[in-house]
Amino acid sequence: MSGGKGTRLRPITYTSAKQLVPVANKPILFYGLEAVREAGIEDVGIVVGDTAEEVKRAVGDGSKFGLRVEYIPQEAPLGLAHAVKISKDYMKSEPFVMYLGDNLLKNGIKSFVDEFAEEKFDSQILLAKVPNPREFGVAEIKGGRVVGLEEKPKQPKSEYALVGVYMFTESIFEAVDNIKPSFRDELEITDAIQYLINKGYVVNSHIVEGWWKDTGKLEDILDANRMILSELHQRLDSKPGDASDVHGNVQLDKGVTVKHSVLRGPCIIGTGAEIVDSYIGPFTSVGPNARILGSEVENSIVLEDCTIRNIGSRIGSSLIGKNVTVEKTDKLPRSYKLMVGDNSRIILF
Ligand code: DAU
Repeated sequence: MSGGKGTRLRPITYTSAKQLVPVANKPILFYGLEAVREAGIEDVGIVVGDTAEEVKRAVGDGSKFGLRVEYIPQEAPLGLAHAVKISKDYMKSEPFVMYLGDNLLKNGIKSFVDEFAEEKFDSQILLAKVPNPREFGVAEIKGGRVVGLEEKPKQPKSEYALVGVYMFTESIFEAVDNIKPSFRDELEITDAIQYLINKGYVVNSHIVEGWWKDTGKLEDILDANRMILSELHQRLDSKPGDASDVHGNVQLDKGVTVKHSVLRGPCIIGTGAEIVDSYIGPFTSVGPNARILGSEVENSIVLEDCTIRNIGSRIGSSLIGKNVTVEKTDKLPRSYKLMVGDNSRIILF
């Protein structure tokens, strides 16, 4: 699923699909495609909306992932069950996995897909314990079985959220034809699964071990970035230059310039980037051709073609979009000079 609007990630999503925001310099969607391939699946239909062209440009025919990818246009984000409805012709009557393009699972999905292929369940859902269940679909569990599901409940019946990976057989097409739009005017997949339970179809559930992230908000993207980077190994495809210190698990891609700087891993620096007189701290991803000059950055994602110059204090916990300039100057008057897109967030200290 790669449609939707990504309102919680504005302004980044004004110009980019939320599923294509890079985490550790790789679009979130690519982790999902890799997980699907690793599970033995070769045919993928990607549901796309307003950002269709950008998703197509990034994924193409899927061959670089070992997949055959086709695109299923959705006229508007009318809900995940609506997305299933419009995918019926593509799916024919085969069992399938529905993977939300903004979800990341550390351990992939292979074991769940294998089990689903062997057992005769009508559907399989994944659950994860979360501190903020109101923000998800939530399961009601009795005697170890899921008996109810509710989307974004005000009073959650458990701490178990629905993870954005679902396994279905063709029974789901009957379900999506028999539900009504929700409070947010969407056809909810949660209601469709509830329909399956009510009708006595077998819906198996699993608790996901290891981390899972729905990367809908800035904090979640930074969390995902930290989680992926914490498993990085040192790889220096460029040689750090004069008077530079590189500690820990740092990945320097080809054509990176590092001068008079300290890099403390885990961090990743994309091809063609320039780091001069700067400090790059742990859990930082710097995109291709970004320039960080006379500045300090940590626990952040800096996208391609950015320039960060002579910042007096350290930039932390930030997501900086493509081709952004952040700089400090001595020129008077001493004022903040901003040109910032709609719905941006700036916190000064
Ligand atoms: O991430 C898990 C959660 O995902 C579940 O716990 C919820 O039960 C489920 O409804 C969903 O909630 P979200 O509110 O996070 O869904 P979101 O609108 O962010 O959509 C998820 C992905 O699917 C996102 O990549 C956009 C895409 N999408 C969404 C809709 C509504 C579509 O392609 N088409 C759509 O119509």
